[in-house]
Formats: sequence, structure tokens, C-alpha cells
Amino acid sequence: MIRGVHHVGLTVANLPKMVSFYRQAAQFSPLPQHPFAVETRFSRIGEENRPIEKSLMLQAPNGYLELIPLDGAAEPSRLDVNQAGLRHICVQSAEGPAVYQNFSDAGAQFHSEFVSLGTGYLYAYARDPEQNVVELEGAPKGPNEAPPWLAHVAIVTHDIDRLSDFYSGLLGRRVHNRGHFHSNDRFDKVTALKNVDVKAAWIHTENLIIEMWQYINPPTEEQPVSLFSTAGINHISFEVDDIAADKLALQQSGYELCRDETICNGGKSVLGRDVDGNLIELLEIDQSYSGLSINALDDVSIIPRLAGVEAGAA
Ligand SMILES: [Fe+2]
Repeated sequence: MIRGVHHVGLTVANLPKMVSFYRQAAQFSPLPQHPFAVETRFSRIGEENRPIEKSLMLQAPNGYLELIPLDGAAEPSRLDVNQAGLRHICVQSAEGPAVYQNFSDAGAQFHSEFVSLGTGYLYAYARDPEQNVVELEGAPKGPNEAPPWLAHVAIVTHDIDRLSDFYSGLLGRRVHNRGHFHSNDRFDKVTALKNVDVKAAWIHTENLIIEMWQYINPPTEEQPVSLFSTAGINHISFEVDDIAADKLALQQSGYELCRDETICNGGKSVLGRDVDGNLIELLEIDQSYSGLSINALDDVSIIPRLAGVEAGAA
């Protein structure tokens, strides 16, 4: 069974700069080391045979970011938020304005100041030093004085029904809720786009949410996924209990794997692609490394708990 999102992976052009940014802005802490050999898990997965160096895991209270430095990674480019692909991660805090300031002090560029969309949360899109979009959310019902946590990873698609069906099947979970937003200049402000008309869907896991967006205007066009060697978000890694069973389920559902089971130190990894071509990993962690499971994190269930709070309050 897929438990949740172990980590979101990013190809990075400048590892020290990115580590320093996320430490300062979000208080995510680098693990001194981790066993999951990235060169084994991702060798030759890209369009070219580039050497992959050791990756670094940044620990948040409820998940990880895996920063993968790639020698000669293409320069980061600024993609609009309606473009297809793994498009943003979301960092939440009950101390929204303070964290906004921390991001700003760390060098983030913001699309706008915090915007209220009437949900009780505050929203702003920031750009990290390599132009990745980090959505910052002020979550008033979150625990005060807790360090910021991850909330979701967002995928933008030209066909949200097809993509949400895929993730619903993969995760064995229903779409928790859907939305359709338009004629709201606050969305224009947050996204830095004009006349936004956008559909959304959300699927919860045991820790993070998979968020999906299809922009009707300006439209999300079908396009090839970003190259692994280009700086940006490059995969979502799901932690599983039994990789052989989950791999089989994936194959029986007609999905092709692009990398069969690989033994990496500390676990086993399988790579596949979603229906849009985005890279996904299944990761089973060996018992001897259970301290690196999402179960061992400080507050793995903060998002489901907050969603319960919201549901209860509705
Ligand atoms: Fe988001």
C-alpha cells in the first residue's frame, strides 16, 4: 500500500545555495547522510547519461525534499504556474507573516503579498533561488510555534480528469474534493496570470496531499515533461509497504514502469510515469532504516489532522 509522499525530488543547479535557502526560509534541516543511493535509483533515467552526484534530503516535520545536484544541470528558467508538470510545493505555517518574512529574507521573490481567498488561509507564491514555485500558506488553525511543514505537491495538467483518475487508482484513494475557480482577481494576483479560470482536484495521503490543477485560461497545454537534467521538481516518491505488490498492481492497471525494482542502500525503488509522463517513484524502506520512514517524522499526520479540523468546522 502506498502510505504517503516520502519526498519530492528536485534537480538543483546549486546545491549549497538551495540548502541554505530552505534552511533559512522554511527551517528544513539537511540530513547528514541518507542511504538511498540516487546514482542507483536514477542512473540513465534522463535523456542523457549524466553522472548524478549524491543527493541531499531536507527534512520537514512531515516529509522530505530530495535535492539532486546534477553536474551541468540546465539553467533554471521561470515557468508560469499554468504550465504542465510538477509545478509547485506548498509550505504551511500558523505563523504565516513571519515565515513570509523569512522567505523574503532568504531571497525569495514573491508573486504578491499574502492574499486571502476566503478559506481562512493566506496564500502567496514565492520563487526559490532556482525559480521553483513554493506556495506559502498561512494556516491559522495550525499549531503555533511549530516549524513550517509541507502541505502538498502540485501537478499541472492539460487533462485533470485523466490525471486525477490515475492518482486515485495509484493511491487507492478517492478524490477528496474538487474546485473550479474563475472571475476572481485574487487568483490572478496569486498566480501572476490574467483572467485565471482553473479547475483543481485534491487527493489526500497519510501525510501530504496530491494537488492537481488544469488551467482553462490561460490554458495548460500538453507538453513534454521537463528533462531530468533541467533544474526543477523532477519526481514524487511514494513510500510503500510492499514494493513487489504495489509494482504488480501498477502493472496490472496497465501502467508501464520505466525502471524495475532496484536495490538501493536502505531500500528498494521502482520508477514509473504518470499519464502525463511525470516521474514517480515507489520506495520501500528497509526495516534497518525505519528511522527514515515518514512514520518516524516529527508530525507526519499534521495535514490530515488539519483537514479534519477544517471538515469538522464546516
Ligand atoms: Fe498549491
